[in-house]
Amino acid sequence: MIIQENVSLKDLNTFGVMARARMFADIKSEEDLNALFSDEDIKQVPKLVLGGGSNMLFTKDYDGLVIHMNIQGISHRSEGNDVYLSAGGGEIWNNLVNFSVEHEFAGMENMSLIPGSVGASPVQNIGAYGVELMDVFHSCRAFEISSGLIRTFTRDECNFSYRDSIFKTTLKDLYIITKVTFKLSTVFSPKVTYGAIQEELDKRNKIKPTIKDISSVVSHIRVGKLPDPKTIGNAGSFFKNPIIPVGKFIQLQSNFPDIVHYPASQGFIKLAAGWLIEQCGWKGKILGQTGTWKNQALVIVNVGKASGNEIYNFSELIVASVQNRFDITLEREVNII
Ligand code: EPU
Repeated sequence: MIIQENVSLKDLNTFGVMARARMFADIKSEEDLNALFSDEDIKQVPKLVLGGGSNMLFTKDYDGLVIHMNIQGISHRSEGNDVYLSAGGGEIWNNLVNFSVEHEFAGMENMSLIPGSVGASPVQNIGAYGVELMDVFHSCRAFEISSGLIRTFTRDECNFSYRDSIFKTTLKDLYIITKVTFKLSTVFSPKVTYGAIQEELDKRNKIKPTIKDISSVVSHIRVGKLPDPKTIGNAGSFFKNPIIPVGKFIQLQSNFPDIVHYPASQGFIKLAAGWLIEQCGWKGKILGQTGTWKNQALVIVNVGKASGNEIYNFSELIVASVQNRFDITLEREVNII
């Protein structure tokens, strides 16, 4: 196991901010993890697990060991109409979605083009356009840091909810996901509840859309709305959509009749953070090297050579505005280091 020193993380975070890791290990197998954690010298060193770096903001250099998860490999097996698709944690999420679309395995197509790695996908239960990871998740393998043992987690054991799982809560920092298995199907029923999908299908005259059509439509909508991290640094939605009690919502709605909202679990309402931020005048606003995206105020962008701190401070201004105007505290979706 080779441990590199003083490694730049600039190309390993989609914000494209400059930060360095004091130590860095590229992990290609579960055995690599075992070797790494058996090493007495690194036991006391602080560690950070990095997947695709698409949900992380580095505000400083990392004074410890960055563990870059790079386990590759895709395989699948069928049982009747069910398909179990497995991928190493280091596979790029969208490559796996493309694989499923090409093989006509249904279930992941609405999550086309989400940045990030497969191993990170269960941690925050990624989702888009009416589908969440938990809808297709079957199980995952994870390395227990304290014991070096591999444990399999079933869907129920992961405690998934909106942008959340057991890996972000009770078991935070205790396990490293090495492989994920998804349960897909050869029987396809398109999910078009998200309005813009049906609209775009109609435009394309697709009466009986295929898996490929849905993937193509979702990719089209995303490209129109969200900046490509390859050209403009960003980490997708910077904040979560707030979930508030119905009582508070009714109060808010009387002051702001147009407030965008969605049903949530019993007694709660989900608000569109992008709407709240836009109402505070932040949409498309640039301050120095950072700002919000012109087509989606929930996305903070690095328009030049912003530092992580600059981006963080900008996000603080947004939090303060939304707090002030709506009495709602926005929570960051992005991890701050
Ligand atoms: N809106 C505005 N102004 C904005 C942005 C949004 O008014 O600047 C309002 C609009 O009314 C819009 C509504 O908010 O209809 C919802 O916006 P959008 O459809 O863009 O979705 P979102 O709730 O802002 C969520 C996810 C995205 C995902 C989209 C589509 C979160 C935090 N974000 O965004 O995920 O792509 O839905 O399903 O849940 C990500 O997590 O990085 C991400 C991009």
